Amino acid sequence: MLFGSLCDRAKTIHTPGGTGALRVAAELLRQFGSKTIWVSKPTWANHTNIFQAAGLTVKEYPYYNATSKDLDADGFFAALETVPAGDCVLLHACCHNPSGVDLSAEQWKQVAQIAQKNGWSTLIDFAYQGLGDGLEADRIGVETLLASGIELLIASSFSKNFGLYRDRTGALTAVAATPADAETAMSHMKATARVIYSNPPAHGGMIVTTILKDAELSKLWKNELDEMRERIAQARSALAEGLTTHGVPMDCSFMTKQKGMFSFSGLTKDQVNFLREEKAIYIVGSGRINVAGLTHGNLGYACDAVAEAMKK
Ligand SMILES: Cc1ncc(COP(=O)(O)O)c(C=O)c1O
Repeated sequence: MLFGSLCDRAKTIHTPGGTGALRVAAELLRQFGSKTIWVSKPTWANHTNIFQAAGLTVKEYPYYNATSKDLDADGFFAALETVPAGDCVLLHACCHNPSGVDLSAEQWKQVAQIAQKNGWSTLIDFAYQGLGDGLEADRIGVETLLASGIELLIASSFSKNFGLYRDRTGALTAVAATPADAETAMSHMKATARVIYSNPPAHGGMIVTTILKDAELSKLWKNELDEMRERIAQARSALAEGLTTHGVPMDCSFMTKQKGMFSFSGLTKDQVNFLREEKAIYIVGSGRINVAGLTHGNLGYACDAVAEAMKK
């Protein structure tokens, strides 16, 4: 898997998707002492459900500033300073879902320092590797935390970057303090998985392994992933430009800075309802647009409709 050779204090198990990895991580946290997990406000809606189902208490740290349409850096770092030792903090490695707002390299360093100083544990959700700035560039957060020497759990999903949604393909990596601790973590991960789902479906994992072990196939896959990322970036620019051309009274350039498949558009619930009822355009209630759903064929119609909704 992508993390198999991260370092000698890392061990990885194959899980049913990123969701399976998050659930095993949550069970491990509960068994080994973290009763509370902190998630960004907002976060992927399923995070809270997964963690609560495993018996964890979920608390939120500020993340997105709806006015600046960027990171609420002051609120974020102030909240991280208050997280007690033993609690866990969930961070999105890249392509934050739903906001599209990612941490900079400098901000990751700050996170690593606080985690190290305050002694809380860290779970990284890595569901969109390759869809932000690229396969290597998207590892910046993980690399920074690794370099600081702290222990980590990393939940990877191959649903998006390998197009394996229905094959439930993911991985959970435990990075422990020592190689011996990593062995112990591995046996706990296996035992935990055994009571939840026993074994993950084999097919998706075999596809990923076959591709990653073959230089030609890997090259092909990386090229296709690059194309996909670039297409999404183009759709972002086209959407921002299209909305401006259609007279939307707002600076839409923030959409081009966001990463990944989603854009927090700032559309209100009423505007989202209008688009669904009147225009057959489906946007999540929070105003999250799936930018990857925009094509040359539907972009003009979408811009027209969103502009009409925004002027209401
Ligand atoms: C942030 C985030 N984490 C995890 C997942 C789950 O990934 P999977 O579909 O592989 O279970 C998703 C899927 O949408 C996601 O957006």
